[in-house]
Amino acid sequence: MCGIVGYVGQRSALDVVMGGLRRLEYRGYDSGGVALVADGEIVSAKKAGKLANLDAVLAETVMPPATTGIGHTRWATHGAPNDRNAHPHLDESGRVAVVHNGIIENFAELRAGIEASGRELSSETDTEVVAHLLAAEMERTPDLTEAVRLVCRQLEGAFTLVICHADHPGTVVGARRNSPLVVGRGDGENFLGSDVAAFIEFTRDAIELGQDQVVTITADDVVVTGFDGRPAETREYHVDWDLSAAEKGGYEWFMLKEIAEQPQAVADTLLGRHGRDGLLQLDEMRLSDDELRNVDKIVAIACGTSYYAAMVAKYAIEHWTRIPVEVELASEFRYRDPILDKTTLVVTISQSGETADTIEAIRYARQQRARVLSICNTNGSTIPRESDAVIYTHAGPEVAVASTKGFLSQLVACYLLGLYLAQVKGVKYGDEIARIIADLEGVPAGIQRMLDDGDEIRKVARDLAGSRSILFLGRHVGYPVALEGALKLKELAYIHAEGFSAGELKHGPIAVIEEGLPVFVVVPPKGRDLLQKKIVSNIQEVRARGARTIVLVEDGDDDVVPYADHLIRLPRLPTLLQPLVATVPLQIFACEFAAQLGHDVDQPRNLAKSVTVE
Ligand code: F6R
Repeated sequence: MCGIVGYVGQRSALDVVMGGLRRLEYRGYDSGGVALVADGEIVSAKKAGKLANLDAVLAETVMPPATTGIGHTRWATHGAPNDRNAHPHLDESGRVAVVHNGIIENFAELRAGIEASGRELSSETDTEVVAHLLAAEMERTPDLTEAVRLVCRQLEGAFTLVICHADHPGTVVGARRNSPLVVGRGDGENFLGSDVAAFIEFTRDAIELGQDQVVTITADDVVVTGFDGRPAETREYHVDWDLSAAEKGGYEWFMLKEIAEQPQAVADTLLGRHGRDGLLQLDEMRLSDDELRNVDKIVAIACGTSYYAAMVAKYAIEHWTRIPVEVELASEFRYRDPILDKTTLVVTISQSGETADTIEAIRYARQQRARVLSICNTNGSTIPRESDAVIYTHAGPEVAVASTKGFLSQLVACYLLGLYLAQVKGVKYGDEIARIIADLEGVPAGIQRMLDDGDEIRKVARDLAGSRSILFLGRHVGYPVALEGALKLKELAYIHAEGFSAGELKHGPIAVIEEGLPVFVVVPPKGRDLLQKKIVSNIQEVRARGARTIVLVEDGDDDVVPYADHLIRLPRLPTLLQPLVATVPLQIFACEFAAQLGHDVDQPRNLAKSVTVE
């Protein structure tokens, strides 16, 4: 979602801000813009479309040298994605420039007030009202920070604001409520960014801002206060990844790099979380064993791909702990009057840690006295900060909009949580846990094999690149894998793709099967239960109706061979862990399929990496 950069220092603000915006491109956007403070004026440029369009505008504009500036990539909420609605927005006099991420919920009312006072707004955005309100406050106080605070107190909703003013060279002011903003602390320069990627090239020292805080940066100082003007407490931290981790490392797409990083992401998420005695240790957990022993219901909440991780978590946690697990879409959760109390553990799963739907679900759950544990990939983000406990996934920065290594590392964290609860509750003991952990430790090699065998599935993608519709079937934990395979394809290739539980086929979906329709099937391991046999029947059913089947099946299972048009072999793993390897070919397939269609794999249309509005 919108990317924001602010800079004050000695360098060219334009270069720093444009560099920062490029690094935030992964968040998804549809227009970009910058504003500089130079010679007592604001000079700004903005353009719809990719940053290359803004570059073209900048090439034709005389941008004076400036060491104070702000920039923005916009993901449209209020108003179409065009030049006029792109940020920065200026007040009528052109002395104050504002960039904004989020939604100002009372903007219609504020806009009406501004118009009634005779001022004219030139865009359809909610952001522009902030520029006008600031100009009005600046007529009363010359103090830019105080004016920002006064305006913030009038705003409802979620917002990150970053502001510069023609009369205040060398100062940029930021503010946040329910939307991310971090400070980068440099030497003789300071930065603001939606996340640390905006300034990681220059500094790895960051300050996390809290809720309802205003920050004023100059070249030598960072001052943080509350919206009420009182000094605020902040947390400083050191970012433990560097620029190269956020760059493509020789891959054509970030997504390919991130798919290839999955063995490491899984290994790193397991690292240090179990001892030689076979027991799990989740030190950063912050919930006592007594609190966990009291848990009698779990509600797992997330969005999109992370929601599919929650679906897998249900199978694993219920099986290992016998604690009932409900799985909820974060966007639905608080609107349906859920039953929660202090013995309910709410588990939220989020790669970015900034997903607005999930944040609101956490707030709601805590109001109902439930304890909240988050599984998250982003240190310092809002979700772990607002939760009672956290298990970090260690996937490293995920830049491609479509989640890959984030998902696999979430699965690992869910398994660790399930096993830990089982250990605490005493329903699984050291050697059983150690056996499952040993299986998990073999997974990075299994994923690596899937990557090494990637050419097979890439060939299937090239063969099927003309298809307009593709189905994915699975059962048990293979069902969320099927949903994830379909979501990846929808996101990247913009075609109809749907995942079904294979058992549901005959209850409706089988009607859409027709000659030549590609159908992926994830076959559960051939084991002690009947699932594998059932799905072999399902494959025959769709094949009999003309479907072209692409079957993902474990080594040594030849039952499906007669019914498979394409066979993708998976390393053998217990059923519950199979998603860790079965997902990988589906990711590679979606990526190759989209690349064949000439799409931007890293930044699919209409999508944003962190969805920071509800
Ligand atoms: C799909 C994808 C999204 C996210 C969803 C939740 O590839 O990336 O569906 O999974 O927006 O995001 P997080 O995990 O950041 O809360």
